[in-house]
Amino acid sequence: MAKKKPEGYLSAKEARRISKSNRKITNVLEKKRKRKNVPESEYLTTMHDPNNCVEFDNLHTYFFTDAGTVKSVDGVTFEVPIGKTVGVVGESGCGKSVTSLSLMQLLQRPQGQIVEGEIRLNLGDKAYDVAKMPYEKLQDLRGNFVSMIFQEPMTALNPVFRIGDQLREVLELHNTENRSKEEIDARIIELLEMVGIANANGVSQMFPHELSGGMRQRVMIAMALACRPRIIIADEPTTALDVTIQAQILDLLRELKDKINSSIMFITHDLGVIAEMADYVVVMYAGRIVEKGTAEDIFYHPAHPYTIGLMASKPVVGKQVDKLYSIPGKVPNPINMPNYCYFKDRCEMCVGPCDGAYPEEISISETHKVSCYRYYEGVKEGGEDR
Ligand SMILES: Nc1ncnc2c1ncn2[C@@H]1O[C@H](COP(=O)(O)OP(=O)(O)OP(=O)(O)O)[C@@H](O)[C@H]1O
Ligand SMILES: [Mg+2]
Repeated sequence: MAKKKPEGYLSAKEARRISKSNRKITNVLEKKRKRKNVPESEYLTTMHDPNNCVEFDNLHTYFFTDAGTVKSVDGVTFEVPIGKTVGVVGESGCGKSVTSLSLMQLLQRPQGQIVEGEIRLNLGDKAYDVAKMPYEKLQDLRGNFVSMIFQEPMTALNPVFRIGDQLREVLELHNTENRSKEEIDARIIELLEMVGIANANGVSQMFPHELSGGMRQRVMIAMALACRPRIIIADEPTTALDVTIQAQILDLLRELKDKINSSIMFITHDLGVIAEMADYVVVMYAGRIVEKGTAEDIFYHPAHPYTIGLMASKPVVGKQVDKLYSIPGKVPNPINMPNYCYFKDRCEMCVGPCDGAYPEEISISETHKVSCYRYYEGVKEGGEDR
């Protein structure tokens, strides 16, 4: 009798077949993306609501790997209103970074590809669909319209250039206001002062390794805000910092955001940070949004069992517990997702139809949406509470 192969085992033949079919798919997509002189009409679109800065609409971003297709983002729809902060939460690997990298067109290509959906970016007088935009065109918008604060400032800053020179590069690359060299120099100092760095002149002459973690993160923020972007993506900007510096950086971000009236897409798995920063919250699980609403909806009336579990697993000041709650089980294999609700195998609140198709998103209030059968008409009563 043949020995049973371990789960996820691929024979050399299968691996070859997968990589061949991947190449076929990615070649077609890459060819389309690399065309020269793409007419604007191809990526011109209209915002569904002009008060939004960005609208993700049914976004699917896949990685075509040799082990199979990873559906990192699998039908994500949410919007970032102008001047507001949207927090994106979810456990490691649920697709938060891939969603933001899709907006920046910074996916690792050719494996990483947006295969379906729109990302509408509001430019004021018109709107572009980032998913269809050519790379060079987005390069003009990066910095000016969309900008990103990365998680790890030590790896994001270049270790061999002085801080001032790194800021100068950003300002020169996106020099839409035709600033002279002197004006750029003055702006570098102004930016460093704006993010609360004393001795801006001295710091601009330093190398990244001469600065502390908090100062480096401030430099990253200065760099991201250099061109007054409409939307700032902050991908776990404070995870590498201690709590006091974290609070300072969050204050700074909030203050600067109001000053330039931009929106923030704030990615983190720290619910405390979200509570402090976000107007709206999007909860992701295994590449999909399971729940979204205002910060109040999510914190005071969590509806999806995953969000309820997340809330139960965070420590509360003044409340003594022997052991913090942890959600049982693990995330399904991203290459081989089940065809029912992705959370079902870990869920302690299952109801009858959970074995069926993945639940459609339903509204439980004007602002609050959830993908869970517990809130379906007629099923509600059967749902047991924790
Ligand atoms: N370059 C890549 N090639 C293959 N798979 C990738 C690649 N980048 C990301 N993925 C996969 O996409 C999924 C989502 O990853 P992502 O980085 O968005 O997670 P995340 O939510 O940002 O997690 P974290 O909180 O750890 O930053 C993961 O399953 C990851 O393995
Ligand atoms: Mg990430």
